[in-house]
Amino acid sequence: MPNALLETRTAVRPFAGIIGAEVDCGIVQQLDDATFAELHRACLDHLVVLIRGQSLSIPDLLAFGRRFGELSPAAPVHKGQKPREYPELAVISNVVENGVAIGGLGDGEAVWHSDSCFNDIPPSFSILHSLEIPPAGGDTGFSNMYAALETLPPELLRAVRGKTIKHDLRYTSGGQLRPGYTGQEDIRTTPGPRHPVIRRHPDTGCDALYLGRRPYAVITEVSAGESEALLDALWAHAAGPTLSWHHQWRVGDILIWDNRCVMHRRDAFDPASRRIMHRTQCMGTLPIEGDGETAARHPRSH
Ligand code: SIN
Repeated sequence: MPNALLETRTAVRPFAGIIGAEVDCGIVQQLDDATFAELHRACLDHLVVLIRGQSLSIPDLLAFGRRFGELSPAAPVHKGQKPREYPELAVISNVVENGVAIGGLGDGEAVWHSDSCFNDIPPSFSILHSLEIPPAGGDTGFSNMYAALETLPPELLRAVRGKTIKHDLRYTSGGQLRPGYTGQEDIRTTPGPRHPVIRRHPDTGCDALYLGRRPYAVITEVSAGESEALLDALWAHAAGPTLSWHHQWRVGDILIWDNRCVMHRRDAFDPASRRIMHRTQCMGTLPIEGDGETAARHPRSH
């Protein structure tokens, strides 16, 4: 029913399936607190939120990100990179100017992952804004990890309850070895945190599967062989098509996703075309363990 409040509040349109919603909230630089609270609620309720038709400068994007929480510094793109004017901005791009890549992740496929799982305190929300997109390819997919846990076969749930994954800091999300490592080190002793495989979301109170990324990971409580078998089974389940939604970008889109309960991936695209995105991330909290049994079920997990 129309009323005066609708002019300043959001319209939330959930996507078919089990993840994602488009939110109309007006110009994000101008959100009042009540409207922002609705947008934030939509992010918790739908895991990934799309806002179309925005045009944010870098300071605008960082200011918008700060409304979700303190921002984390972005990882350097190049070895020896000079300090940047905006340390909390990551440029995601394949564009090379004067022989130097302006951003990270290039034009290849980015396999399923949760952002910066190799940090002790991984980010909560990631916010990605599209400035230039290729004519084809470069879609980004998102997968619901509440639902992945909810639909896990009982024997697999029993096998992972109480287990942790060691997330290996040696490798970047793009698969590059960080300086100072050879790749031959024993993953069980390399730097990087151990996070619970079943993670309780601090805001929703619901449990989700928290896998991070398939390479550079090991379940520490079992043998190397058992860890591989368990991770293979978990990933075959969690990366299945029924849990995910893929986004075809338009210039001006903003996607906000919650790394505590979502994994994402990106399709490759033609290296001759240009793709430029700006991303910022909010500081999360130390992952806490869930048991996949006693927590509330997330409404979009079934
Ligand atoms: C990312 O993995 O954070 C970037 C995703 C994308 O480039 O679409």
